[in-house]
Amino acid sequence: MILEVRRLQDSLCVRRKLLSLAMRPAPSLWVLVLLGVGSLMLLVRLQDLTDPVLQQNPGVQLPAAPKWPTKKDAVELMEVVPTGRFLSPVGFLGSRPPVTKRHRKLLKSVSASSAPAGGEEAVVQQRLVRTQESRRRLLAEVCSKYQAGVGQQPVSQRQVSRIYVEDQLRLLYCEVPKAGCSNWKRVLMVLGGTASSTRDIPHDAAHYANHLRRLESYDRGGIAQRLRSYTKVLFVREPFERLVSAFRDKFESPNSYYHPVFGRPIISRYRVNATLTALRSGTGVTFREFIQYLLDVRRPVGMDIHWQPVSQLCNPCLLRYDFIGRFEDLEEEANFLLRSVGAPANLTFPDFKDRNPLAERTSSRITQKYFSQLNATERQRAFDFYYMDYLMFNYSKPFQDLH
Ligand SMILES: *[C@@H]1O[C@H](CO)[C@@H](O)[C@H](O)[C@H]1NC(C)=O
Ligand SMILES: *[C@@H]1O[C@H](CO)[C@@H](O)[C@H](O)[C@H]1NC(C)=O
Ligand SMILES: *[C@@H]1O[C@H](CO)[C@@H](O)[C@H](O)[C@H]1NC(C)=O
Ligand SMILES: *[C@@H]1O[C@H](CO)[C@@H](O)[C@H](O)[C@H]1NC(C)=O
Repeated sequence: MILEVRRLQDSLCVRRKLLSLAMRPAPSLWVLVLLGVGSLMLLVRLQDLTDPVLQQNPGVQLPAAPKWPTKKDAVELMEVVPTGRFLSPVGFLGSRPPVTKRHRKLLKSVSASSAPAGGEEAVVQQRLVRTQESRRRLLAEVCSKYQAGVGQQPVSQRQVSRIYVEDQLRLLYCEVPKAGCSNWKRVLMVLGGTASSTRDIPHDAAHYANHLRRLESYDRGGIAQRLRSYTKVLFVREPFERLVSAFRDKFESPNSYYHPVFGRPIISRYRVNATLTALRSGTGVTFREFIQYLLDVRRPVGMDIHWQPVSQLCNPCLLRYDFIGRFEDLEEEANFLLRSVGAPANLTFPDFKDRNPLAERTSSRITQKYFSQLNATERQRAFDFYYMDYLMFNYSKPFQDLH
């Protein structure tokens, strides 16, 4: 327990978890969020029905009609169409009924922002909307193939524990470490009024003093209502690049948490003839040793959110995100999202590199270099480990010899 608390305390994106650990309600309370799921299912069903490609695809099953929600909830659902904005150009351009007052406002802000540049910007926007559409469709197909029925399951508090809430713009953001999460937190802080500019927020403040609220901290009704009507956002990154980025960040520069807590057991388990100094400090873990730990079915120390697959962190089959962005196009896609949900015009997505600002950003070239230290079997097993992330988010095989 002490170990776990220390780990949480030091880990980049999880300080607030401490609070929730201390205040965690009785288990029975966080088992089911029936309300939300029922409504979510209806939403999913509505979306699937409006998606011609899905209907033509015999491999994709439409979810069964949910017992929930009641008629009243269904009406409520129909009124929160904004989450359908990223579904199709038709919906996006405003001809998808019914259009609520709030919806109209959002559409107006989008078309207003595209007006000055005329056609060109509209073309870009349509491309981005179509991109969202195809990402969502692919994810739905992968989910129905590999995690059939997951979308019908109730949502537990734990399953939304990585999600931050922004009530002003009605956003839910699932944090994926090493995929732009520090800058997303800065943006959420500005939106929530905790800071006036993303520039004023140092790295530690973004993580430890962010005043951002997690979805799990609301009661069942609060969770269900937000899941039903807020825009759910996820940003992903090429899985091997994210892994290398996490390794470099945590093991290649001094770290008072990851070296003792992860480095020590890793060196002691996987290094032959380790020196006493290395065993004591946990410093100097090699990428190969790190991968041996990652792939070990009996790891000497547990998982960590920085290298946990996104498919497990953010439960994409269960929560059906409205917006799936990519780290590789972070600025364009994040700004598109901000404009679409009506963020203040002077708020743009920042481009800060927080940790080790002098080190080169992890690229595919750097990633290849690290993976060349592994043999073919190890590479294949690492690929298998992140296979669902590769499938769900349409990243291509990083090495020819993988299958
Ligand atoms: C954006 O504009 C608002 C007022 O409309 C102002 O309070 C805020 O400081 C501005 N933010 C930035 C980053 O310039
Ligand atoms: C470890 O040390 C032993 C004895 O000093 C030596 O025989 C062996 O080759 C070393 N193994 C490695 C992998 O360096
Ligand atoms: C690759 O390395 C692992 C140790 O991580 C070893 O067990 C395996 O035999 C090696 N495979 C090949 C093909 O060299
Ligand atoms: C997946 O990505 C490839 C390019 O790597 C693209 O051609 C293809 O259309 C994408 N598939 C889906 C379903 O989005």
